[in-house]
Amino acid sequence: MEILHGVSVRLDEGEIVAILGPNGAGKSTLIKTIFGLLRPTRGRVWLRGQEITGLAPEELVAQGIGYVPQVGNVFPSLTVRENLEMAGYPLTRDAPDGLDLAGRILRILRNPARKEIDRRIQEVLGVFPDLASRVRARVGDLSGGQQQMVALAKSLVLGPRVLLIDEPSAGLAPKLVDAVFEKITEIRDQGTSLIVVEQRARRILALADRGYILDTGRNKFEDRGEALLRNPEIGRLYLGG
Ligand SMILES: Nc1ncnc2c1ncn2[C@@H]1O[C@H](COP(=O)(O)OP(=O)(O)OP(=O)(O)O)[C@@H](O)[C@H]1O
Ligand SMILES: [Mg+2]
Repeated sequence: MEILHGVSVRLDEGEIVAILGPNGAGKSTLIKTIFGLLRPTRGRVWLRGQEITGLAPEELVAQGIGYVPQVGNVFPSLTVRENLEMAGYPLTRDAPDGLDLAGRILRILRNPARKEIDRRIQEVLGVFPDLASRVRARVGDLSGGQQQMVALAKSLVLGPRVLLIDEPSAGLAPKLVDAVFEKITEIRDQGTSLIVVEQRARRILALADRGYILDTGRNKFEDRGEALLRNPEIGRLYLGG
């Protein structure tokens, strides 16, 4: 089934770009298509002048793209630290095939990439001091806000240059929403460009450089964040008055 019909989105270096629009507009579909989880029937995806349409997610990860899904973005039964270690797994993938499971696990445990993963985890925990004190906690036992922080932290372990985040504030209390949005700004300031899908349109536009409003799988509006916020028609139709 065709869900997107001629959507066009651009992300420049160092930007936060917001993707807004009503439920079912195609926002998650757009992000999944960029990340190679869905294959477009038409249209192309480019990264720094190179076409990446149709590449598998793991290849895109290797090219510096990260993705935080709308749901299921952490392993609840694992600890914070284990979640972060899992996120570093692609760094261990020089292991030769043909090993049995135990062989592969041993290989991973002894892999020199481990040191690199540990180093990156320490770096990421520096950005999330609240998680640093809870590395042994089971993620399923953490609050919704903390779990969302784990999801963001996971996505940073590989040091992505581009991060795609689907509804990071969903289901969070207002104070936690503030914390998540602050982190998003911090991530941008540290050199990662972000595409963020959000329902809290006014909040994300206040910190986004530019925004796109999708409706029924099409681009409806596109402008600088503050310009979208100031437009009364957009306010009435898409930003809740
Ligand atoms: N796997 C699928 N098969 C068929 N239809 C789908 C599939 N995934 C999504 N859709 C439909 O595509 C449309 C866009 O869905 P999508 O999840 O991209 O919307 P969204 O903008 O992310 O919405 P929300 O704000 O609710 O997360 C919806 O009508 C949805 O029902
Ligand atoms: Mg969605």
